[in-house]
Amino acid sequence: MAQLLITGGAGFIGSHTCVVLLEAGHSLVVLDNYSNGSPEALQRVASLVGPDGARRLCVVEGDIRNPSDLERAFHAAPAGAPVEAVVHFAGLKAVGDSVNDPLTYWDVNVGGSRSLLAAMQRQGCRTLVFSSSATVYGFPTQVPIAETAPVHPINPYGHSKAAVEQLLADLAASEAGWRIARLRYFNPVGAHPSGAIGEDPLGTPNNLFPFITQVAVGRRPVVSVFGGDWPTQDGTGVRDYIHVMDLAEGHGAALEHLLTQGDTLLTLNLGSGQGHSVLEVLRCFETACGRSIPHQIVAQRPGDTAITVADPSRAQQVLGWRTQRSLRQICEDGWAWQRANPQGYRP
Ligand code: WQD
Repeated sequence: MAQLLITGGAGFIGSHTCVVLLEAGHSLVVLDNYSNGSPEALQRVASLVGPDGARRLCVVEGDIRNPSDLERAFHAAPAGAPVEAVVHFAGLKAVGDSVNDPLTYWDVNVGGSRSLLAAMQRQGCRTLVFSSSATVYGFPTQVPIAETAPVHPINPYGHSKAAVEQLLADLAASEAGWRIARLRYFNPVGAHPSGAIGEDPLGTPNNLFPFITQVAVGRRPVVSVFGGDWPTQDGTGVRDYIHVMDLAEGHGAALEHLLTQGDTLLTLNLGSGQGHSVLEVLRCFETACGRSIPHQIVAQRPGDTAITVADPSRAQQVLGWRTQRSLRQICEDGWAWQRANPQGYRP
C-alpha cells in the first residue's frame, strides 16, 4: 500500500475518495485550507473507516499555493514516510463564480497546481491523479463525448482546468518519470450510503442536485428549472450524473493503474454514459424522499448546453472501471445525507 498526499481531501469528492483509499489500505496525508470543505468531513471519514483506517489518516491545514504548507504536508506522514503519489482535488469549481472572478480561479486552480507540481518535483514524487472536468469540452461537438473531442472551454473555470491539463502534458514531456492521470468528471452527485458524508456547498448551491436536496429538506422553497425549451425529450437539460462513490472508486482504480505503470499520461472521462433530464432527476428524487419537490421552469442559464453525456468506454478499457450505481441510488443516498444533515456539516 502507498503513502499518498490528498489535496482538497476535506471537500465533497475528496472526502469520499479518502474513504475508498483508506479502505484499500493506503496511508493519507490530507492538505486542505477548508475554503470549500469542512474539518468535520474528515472526522467523519475517520469514523467511517474504523480505528485502523483512522490511524492512517493525517490532516494538515494549509494552502497548495504556499510552499511551506506543501513542505509540511510532504513531511507529515508518520515516521517520515515519503509521499509516493498525489491525488489533487484542491481547487475552485463554480462556473458562475469563475466568470465573476477569473483572477482567483486562475490563482487557485492554475497557480496552486503549479505550486504543487514544483513541490512534487522537489520531493521526487512524480505520480499524480488530477481532478479535471468535462467542462473543458465546452459546447460538445458530438454526444456522447469521447476524450478525443476538442478541448474548448467556454468559462474561466473550464479554462483553468484545461490549462492545468496542458501544464501536466508539458511536464510529462519535459522530464522522465511522470505518471499522470487527468480525470474528467461529468456531474458528481449523491453521497456515501451511510449518510455521514455528502455534498455541502457553501452558500446558494450552483448545481442542481444539492439545490434539490436543500429544497427537499426545507432549506429552500423551490427548484428553478433552467429552461423547458431545450432540444431534449422533455425540454429540460440532460446531464451525465455519476454517483460520488463510483467517482471515488474511479480514482482508486486510476491510482492503482499508475502505480503499476512506467511513464504515462492518461486522460479519462469519468461518467456513466447515460443522460438524465432535470425533470427525470426531480421525479426520481421525489420517489426517493417520498415528498414532492416544488419547482418552476424559468429561462435557460447562460453558458448551459442542452445535452452533456460521457463516452466512458476508455476508462472501462484501461482501468476495468465503470459506474455501478443508478440514478435511484444517487437520489436515495443523497437524500439520506441531507435528511440526516439538514445544515450540512454546520452544527
Ligand atoms: C445540471 C443541469 C442545468 C441548477 C457543473 C459545472 C462543474 C462540473 C459539473 C465539476 C443543467 C440544470 C442546474 C439549477 C437547473 N463539475 N439546473 N437548476 O452545469 O452540468 O456542470 O457541474 O467539474 O461544476 O460545469 O451542472 O448541476 O449546474 O446543472 O435546472 O438550480 O441542471 O441547466 O441542465 P452542470 P449543474
